Amino acid sequence: MPDTMLEIRDLQAWYGQSHILHGVNLSVRRGELVTLLGRNGAGKSTTLKAIMGTVPRRSGSIRFEGTEIIAAPSHEIARLGIGFCPEDRGIYASLDVQENLLLPPVVRPGGMSVEMVLDLFPNLRERFKSPGMKLSGGEQQMLAIGRILRTGAPLLLLDEPTEGLAPVVVEQIGGVIRRLKAAGFTILMVEQNVRFASTVADRHYVMERGQIVETLENADMHGDFERVVGLLGV
Ligand SMILES: Nc1ncnc2c1ncn2[C@@H]1O[C@H](COP(=O)(O)OP(=O)(O)OP(=O)(O)O)[C@@H](O)[C@H]1O
Ligand SMILES: [Mg+2]
Repeated sequence: MPDTMLEIRDLQAWYGQSHILHGVNLSVRRGELVTLLGRNGAGKSTTLKAIMGTVPRRSGSIRFEGTEIIAAPSHEIARLGIGFCPEDRGIYASLDVQENLLLPPVVRPGGMSVEMVLDLFPNLRERFKSPGMKLSGGEQQMLAIGRILRTGAPLLLLDEPTEGLAPVVVEQIGGVIRRLKAAGFTILMVEQNVRFASTVADRHYVMERGQIVETLENADMHGDFERVVGLLGV
């Protein structure tokens, strides 16, 4: 198995006439947890959507486990083994927790059983028969993560998993993310919360206006914290 799980070169993306990504270069090694930091509108979500093939137009190179996926349709990309947790969480309001969990198809052997997902997120066990629309923001986020763990995808793309959540829920999600990393998942995570990012990640990319402008090892970030926070304007 190649050591590099995701390798992106000169990725460009457009929404209609708007050119949003201007040559993104990044790579994620197997088992690594890497964040994409950046201000609002920097292109973080667009980068994840471009990897999943859900932007209207993209170019460049995206290699997943050595396979070029820049021209692949999005259902094929998911099937290859990339799990995506979008910014809006994508929970079906009228389906209950169980139905939402069972929705994404299993793409590889070795994914978690429903029981394992419920052990990881005990709140979901209590809400198993509740419709998506009745869940709190935290429960929706747990469901959005739990849902992709069933599929067996080894690479997880998480878009702002802590956005809008209370500190105690952020702590809970952080604990789960650390356990997923320890279990061998490879994770590329968009985050605005630099403090939270520094508690889970190995490495960080900083995005600005559709490009990566800086790479930081997490170990180096602590001495540099105020500068990074300033860079993000948050
Ligand atoms: N569907 C769309 N159609 C047109 N422009 C879009 C669309 N989605 C995003 N954009 C634009 O693309 C740019 C990058 O947006 P993106 O959502 O990738 O930013 P982001 O870094 O995720 O920001 P945030 O932190 O606010 O989530 C922004 O200027 C945004 O207005
Ligand atoms: Mg975003």
